[in-house]
Amino acid sequence: MTQKIIIDTDPGQDDAVAILLALASPELEVLGLTVVAGNVPLDLTARNARIVCELAGRPDMPVFAGCDRPLARDLVTAEHVHGKTGLDGPQMADPTMPLQDMHAVDFIIETLRSQPAGSVTLCPLGPLTNIATAFRRAPDIVARVARIVLMGGAYFEVGNITPAAEFNIYVDPEAAKIVFDAGVPLTVLPLDATHKALTTADRVQAFRDLGTEVGRMVAAWTDFFERFDKEKYGSAGAPLHDPCVIAWLLAPDLFTGREINVEIEVDSPLTRGMTVADWWRVTDRPANALFIGGIDADGFFALLTERLARLS
Ligand code: RIB
Ligand code: CA
Repeated sequence: MTQKIIIDTDPGQDDAVAILLALASPELEVLGLTVVAGNVPLDLTARNARIVCELAGRPDMPVFAGCDRPLARDLVTAEHVHGKTGLDGPQMADPTMPLQDMHAVDFIIETLRSQPAGSVTLCPLGPLTNIATAFRRAPDIVARVARIVLMGGAYFEVGNITPAAEFNIYVDPEAAKIVFDAGVPLTVLPLDATHKALTTADRVQAFRDLGTEVGRMVAAWTDFFERFDKEKYGSAGAPLHDPCVIAWLLAPDLFTGREINVEIEVDSPLTRGMTVADWWRVTDRPANALFIGGIDADGFFALLTERLARLS
């Protein structure tokens, strides 16, 4: 039985690969893409999401623009990682497919109200502003969400945008708190997992060896995207953060984690956006998330490459 999902995204090269993976996987029915400001401003994330859909041969995929700033903060972007366009690497033409007229938050609300309760999984790949806004505007939809599978946060890896916080959570900590406190079944793919999903020369060559436009684009995006992480961490390559969300849906056995309590810091200027993960269960705070710590990286890249091969 296919899983119905909504991908909430701020493309971002890694978001782009995640979207391609989802669109290449028949186990998933992508009901729509909702776009949020994050890696780059909303006009660019809305552009980039449509570029990826057209690359995947899916100009029919509805793309909805959402919130252009966090709930209560100024927007922080990440051009230093993703480049000015958010999809730097290859030259890419503007999309021709249109944005939907409906706001992303309205799409989330209407979809959750119209689909059978418990049948739709939300897959946030960026700041959680759209999801939190939908929950605040329509509290009745919270109980109708099957699960939220998101990329964000960290425990052992602590932070990538500050010493204490991962970017998606840092940009909109108030939104993250709403989502983590909502009581929806939650799977978190933090830096602890995604930093083990590193592109290497062989893995990127496997994308190129697909001999397709998709393979060429993914290789070019990862070549661009990895320069930041190589310089910062001295790592072998780029962490493919967001595709881990889709891979967990497709092959959860590639991952390991534990049900723990995760709280979001929203008050401290020093640790704003920190995911305070009770990995060792030293408190009696109730578990609210399946927090992923491990990944079979070879299995992940084998799955990703095999699925990308299905796109032209
Ligand atoms: O910290 C990594 C996350 O922030 C990824 O989702 C990346 O695309 C950015 O949104
Ligand atoms: Ca992202």
